Formats: sequence, structure tokens, C-alpha cells
Amino acid sequence: MNSARYEYDSHNGRSERIDFLTSKEKVPKKRNIGILIGVLVAFLILAAVAAFLIWLFVFKDAESDGITGKLLTKSEQVFSGRMKLQNVPYNQNLENAQSQEFQQLSNKLEAVLGELYQTDPFLAKYYTKSTVTAFSEGVMAYYWSQFDIPPSDLEIVPEFSEERILDALEGGIKDQRMRFSSSGIQITEVTASLTDARMARDPRDEDCFYTLEAVEKAETFTSPGYPQHYPSKSRCQWQIRASEEDTISVSFPYFNIEDDCSNDFVSTFDSLSPDYSRAITKKCGQRLPSNPLEVVSSGNIMLITFITDAKVQKPGFEASYRSIPKTKVQTCGGILSGNNGSFTSPLHPSFYPPSTDCKWTIQVSQGKEVRVNFKLFLIKEPGVDVRVCHKDYVEIMGTKYCGEVSSLSLTSSTNVLDVSFHSDKSYTDKGFIAEYTAYDPANPCPDMFACKTGICIANSLKCDGWNDCGDMSDEKQCQCDKDQFSCSNGLCKPKLWVCDRNNDCGDGSDEKLCSCEPNEWRCGNGVCLPQDVVCNNKMDCEDGSDEASCKSSPGMCSDFSFVCSNKECVNKVNAECDRVNDCSDNSDEANCDCGTRPYKLNRIVGGQNAELGEWPWQVSLHFMTKGHVCGASVISKTWLLSAAHCFVSITSPQNHVASNWQTYSGMQDQIKMDGVLRKVKRIVPHPDYKEDTSDYDIALLELSVPLEYTNTIQPICLPSSSHVFPAGMSCWITGWGVLREGGQTAQILQKALVKIINDTVCDAVTNNQVTSRMLCSGFLAGGVDACQGDSGGPLACFEESGKWFQAGIVSWGEGCARRNKPGVYSRVTKLRDWIKKESGI
Ligand code: ARG
Repeated sequence: MNSARYEYDSHNGRSERIDFLTSKEKVPKKRNIGILIGVLVAFLILAAVAAFLIWLFVFKDAESDGITGKLLTKSEQVFSGRMKLQNVPYNQNLENAQSQEFQQLSNKLEAVLGELYQTDPFLAKYYTKSTVTAFSEGVMAYYWSQFDIPPSDLEIVPEFSEERILDALEGGIKDQRMRFSSSGIQITEVTASLTDARMARDPRDEDCFYTLEAVEKAETFTSPGYPQHYPSKSRCQWQIRASEEDTISVSFPYFNIEDDCSNDFVSTFDSLSPDYSRAITKKCGQRLPSNPLEVVSSGNIMLITFITDAKVQKPGFEASYRSIPKTKVQTCGGILSGNNGSFTSPLHPSFYPPSTDCKWTIQVSQGKEVRVNFKLFLIKEPGVDVRVCHKDYVEIMGTKYCGEVSSLSLTSSTNVLDVSFHSDKSYTDKGFIAEYTAYDPANPCPDMFACKTGICIANSLKCDGWNDCGDMSDEKQCQCDKDQFSCSNGLCKPKLWVCDRNNDCGDGSDEKLCSCEPNEWRCGNGVCLPQDVVCNNKMDCEDGSDEASCKSSPGMCSDFSFVCSNKECVNKVNAECDRVNDCSDNSDEANCDCGTRPYKLNRIVGGQNAELGEWPWQVSLHFMTKGHVCGASVISKTWLLSAAHCFVSITSPQNHVASNWQTYSGMQDQIKMDGVLRKVKRIVPHPDYKEDTSDYDIALLELSVPLEYTNTIQPICLPSSSHVFPAGMSCWITGWGVLREGGQTAQILQKALVKIINDTVCDAVTNNQVTSRMLCSGFLAGGVDACQGDSGGPLACFEESGKWFQAGIVSWGEGCARRNKPGVYSRVTKLRDWIKKESGI
């Protein structure tokens, strides 16, 4: 979807209506002791059931799990970290938890830790145990310590701080006269950070605890139960080591874990202990194979942990690990000469490694300046203020950038520009892809318009009513063309939008002076005609609205009539599902469980990302391993509506094979894959579909297993063949299609407001290529449109009755969002009877 519009109204300025049901009858009062006893017994049963359920879901879990510290159960505080040992020789056998060396040294260290905590009476009171989990060269020992706080003392939990633990440990190890120095072990450095109590594992009990050796050739491991589903309450750890001159890379070609990261998750650490000050990532949810998670350590050790709860069980993950030379990871940055080029964060598309610094110096010809454009920028870290960027960042000309930035374009003031990158010890991300070009400061945008923001846009985008620069600098000081309306605030808008019931100027000036005289009739497109055109059996308004509601001619059946099941005709615009019974058999109000969205929405105006559940009928169609390729809409539990051209193609016959397709309903994010998968049983394209003309571009998909309707999955209403969507009406298009002509597809479902374009204009601007099975929608000025990948998706219009109806199916267009080239849609009303015939819907 291509959308450069900067102002939206909510669908037509109308709002969805919620009707409250009123109880017509009240139960008559009867003084009947029997009822009273009955009620009492029912109440007692209910109370018992409720108590049982509360115990089952809340206390039982908390007791056995020990993670929900909020309740009146004991709290387990676990701290994890590492210690540097001075006078201990490193021995390969220390890497094996079953070896004698490991057991001896860990027993000693665990005893030392216990003694250290005794120096603080407060800690000593709650201390339970310590476990050494690994050793690495150096000699470094990794450990965790647990403190159990009984329910009666829960208020002291906040006093269990990392500082307190460190004070006890550091204070103790500094004190050379301490009793335990007799153990012969000298600790020189120690760290401790609060960790998830579920991470407290002992490598000596073998259950789901693995030690792996990474070599150059990739090896794999999987979560338990994979690919069926992981068991409940998994607590797994994989310690990975490589030789000293290497680092470790782990990628997850398959990753599908419950969506809520507080229940089930995978964490990776740049350490051998689950120490959050050295965490690389914490992830859950589902990832597309085309966007796998891949992380890299800074040294030759890594820990992967996998935690699940007792509720939802998903397939889990498959991981592949290998070693990569440190020299390869640590070489980044350098001098970039030449007048254009690109560079990325280290190891991109993998997550960048922790503890890395790089510097690129871009040098272009004398007299030129440098423009850097970040095509991707993901340097997110929990708890970081993106205005400060005190952890990982890119620094350019003294400013630090971090977080998720959708478009970042910067220009230098000389022919040299330095770009630095820094990652600290914890949490990494995908990083960035940057492109640079040299430009002439005297003419920064040859043959293009130079925005004040530093970017260049096509000259045709200047003064077109759209904010293409981002700062409106292309829309200031404009002379409106003769086919444009001059808004009071200086903007120019197409004349077609004047009096279309939409505030296109932003200051309302295009909608002032729009009401008709008292003796006039206002057509759906805002045109005023003499009152006597109404019901004169002649179509005077372009949209037929003057003839549509002529109750005076009952029984008269025209193209505008709604035909009831008993063949009666109702002459009323859009009589179906408007909560008024118009047919004597009420068939106009049957089958109206559609077109509503259960979720309450924030209605953020202006953004293009859709909210979860905003378009519950939108479906993403995935093809073989290519991921998303087309859209569709839910019209019933077993049928989806889409475009024939997604399935019928002489050059790719595999498109016609139902088993090659996967449908995702209720989805918002293509990376999280937060949708419900259904396979396709049958593809029914329209028999008259023509690849060369795109006529009859409609197809039905029958699902192999019915959908369940939820807050995020609902059917859209199909309009009857007489339904009128008048020109000028605002409707919405939605999809994951490309964001610009020739650009990339969207990750988050996009929405854009478009207007129905009148058929004569549509015919003219498409050189008479539209048939009566097509309709145009969009803006003649360009800027907003569907695009590649949106095909098959719905053009959804909100009706006064409070329901959403599907007016069109995204079909074709000349390029995307070009001026005078609106999107062309299959006209659902004209194809309504075929849908009914094939699907029964
Ligand atoms: N045919 C395109 C697809 O396969 C959709 C084209 C819609 N184009 C437009 N400009 N409205 O996704």
C-alpha cells in the first residue's frame, strides 16, 4: 500500500454505533421460598466452582512454580554472575560438569559463596544455596545464588538489590583475612545481577541441560518436543563454547513460541550464566523463515535458555550454531571512498555482537557533500531513552541515534562524514543498512525538488496537496492549478474533493458552502439538483441516489431495488443489514452477523499502521515458501474472497494448486506471524477471468478447516447487487503490499483511506480499460493507493447502519499511487450472484 497522505478522517466522519439491548420484560416477582432456596444453592455451587478455579489457575501455579511473587507465597530471589579466580590453573575437564575437577572446584566455590553471604546478617537470614554452573578460560566461574523469602517477610523483597549482594561478595573477597581463604581460592572480580528464578539450574542434573562445542561447521539443536510441541514448564539451557580465537553465532531457522514473553521465551546471553547484564536478546512469538533470529557472542561462550509455562504449547525452535573467527567479528568500519556505496552494522542481517565499536569515514570528491540514508535502522534496547541513547547507538556529527527509526536521512557539511557505531555489553538488535551518495551542495537535487529535510522528491510532487517531504516544505508557496481548489490555508486540493463531505484542506474550507438550497436535492457526490428529479423514474444524479429511495413506487423493480428472498422489491438505498425490516419476510436483515469489529479502537488518525483487530476480515495469503503474496477477506467461517489473478497465471501453474497456499487470519504483523493458519481446500476462480484484461478478477477460497470468529477474526458484509457505493464515498484499503512502487512489502498491516471515483472519470483516466465488473478508487492527485501485494484484499466501506461492507477487491492499477492513475477494484456488487452460487454465502 502506498500512502503519503497526512490527514485522515475516521471512515466518513461517521462513527460506529453500539446499541444496548433493553429487556422488554421484567421477571414477575413471586414470593416463593422454593426459588430463594434454589438461588442460594446455585450461589453456593458457583462460589465453590469459582474458588476451585482461582486455586487451580492462580495459587496452584504460584505454589509449584514460585514465579508469581505477588501472591502470598514465598518469593525466590535469584542472582547470577561470574567470578574471576586467581590461583586456579585452567583444565579442560572443568568444562564437563560430571568431571571430578568440576565437582571439586564447584563444591569449594559454593561453600565460599555461602560464607560470603554470612557477612551480611540480612542476606544470611534468607540465603538458601548457590550453584556453580560453568567454568571458562581465565579462570572464570559462573554461578547463581538463591534467597527464599517466606510470605510473612515479603515486604523486604525490594531490599534484595544487586548492590547489596555485590557489597557482601566484594567486601568479603577484599578481606584477605577471611576464614575461607584457607580454601586456597582467591576471587579477584565478581558480578551479580538479578535474574529469573526459573533460570536456576544445576548442570549436574542432566535434565534439559546441554554443553555444546561450536566449530566452523554448523550443528543444530532443537527445543524439547520439537516439531510437535514443547512440554509445559520446560527449563532448558545450552552452554556453547568455541576455541579462544572464535566467537559463536546461533541462528534460529524455525522459531514458534507462545506470544506472551512472560510465559514462554528464549534468552541468549553473552556469558555462561543467565546474567541479564550480559543478555543478548529475549524473544518469543513466531518468526518468518525469511527473517530468522540470528545472534553472535562477543567472546567464545554463549548461553541459551528456554523457559515455558503450563498453558500454551507451541512447536518450539530449531537452532543452528557455529564458530566464527573473532577477527571477522571485530573488523568493521574503515574508509569508504567513491561517490556512492553502502555499509551495514557488523554481521548484518544477524544481530550485531555486543561490545563492539566501529567507525566508517566516508570520503567523497572535493566540493561535494555526503548524504547518508538508513534503509533499515533497528537499535532497540529495553529501558533506553532514545533521546539519550546511552547504550547502543550510531553517532553522526555529534548526535547519537538509537531505537527504531523508519527513515533517517542525514547530510554532511563537508566532503567527509564520520559514522560511528557502538554496542555495549548487553542486548543487541538487527542494526542498520546505510547507503551514501555524494551531492553537489549548489544543486542538491538535480532535476528534483529539494525538501528542507535534505531529501529529494520528484518535481511533480511539489504543490500536489501531499506532504511528501515530511515537513510540508513541498506544499508551501504554491500556486493552485485550474483543476485545483485553493484552500484557505494555502494548500491546493483537487476540485473533485470540494463538497465531498471530507475535510481535505484540513481547515474545512473545501467543505464550507456545500449545503444545497431548500428546494434542491443533494446527490451522493455533493451535486445539487432541483428537487423534482427525485423519483421521476430517471437517473439524474451520477450515483442514482435520486431514484434509489422511492417508496412511492412499491413493487417496481429496478437495478436499484433490493430483491427480497420472496422476490419482493424494496426501493431504498442499501436496505440490507440496516437494522430496519424492509422485506415482509425480513430477508434484508438475515445473514447480518458481519462487518463489525469487536475490539475497541483508539482511532489514531494520521497513522498508517493498522491496529490489532481493526480490520478483522483481512487475510494474508502466503504462497509456498515465499511468504505473503496476496490479500483476501473473510466472508464466512469457510470461505475467503480474493482476486483471481493471484491464482490464475499461465506462466506459474503452481499458483493454482490449493496445497501451495497458507492463509493467515487475524494477523497484523508478518514477522510476529500473529495470525491463525488455515490451509486451502479449493480455489474457485471466476470462469470468465481474463489475464489480459483483468475482467472478472475474483476468486473464492474454501478453507480446509473452518475459522473460529474472535476479536481479531470476523467476516465482512457482502453488499447485495443493488448496494450503492456513491462516488466520493470514503472507504478503506488494507494490506501488506509494497509501500512504494517497486519498494518493499509491509511488516505491519497498512490502512489507507481512498475515495470511490465516479465511473465516467474512471473510464477516462484508464483509457476505457474498465469494464462494468470494475470500479476505481483512490485519488486523482496520486499519493494513496493499493500496490503489489495488496491484491485480493478488500476495499471496505463503512455504512451508516454501523456495518462494514466490501465494495471491491484490489485488482490492478497503472503503477501505484500515480497522478491520474487510481486503483482499479473488482466490483463486488456485480459479482455478488456468482459468489452466492459458488459458496452459498
Ligand atoms: N496486481 C497487484 C497485486 O498483485 C495489485 C495492484 C493494485 N494496484 C494499484 N495501483 N491499485 O498485488
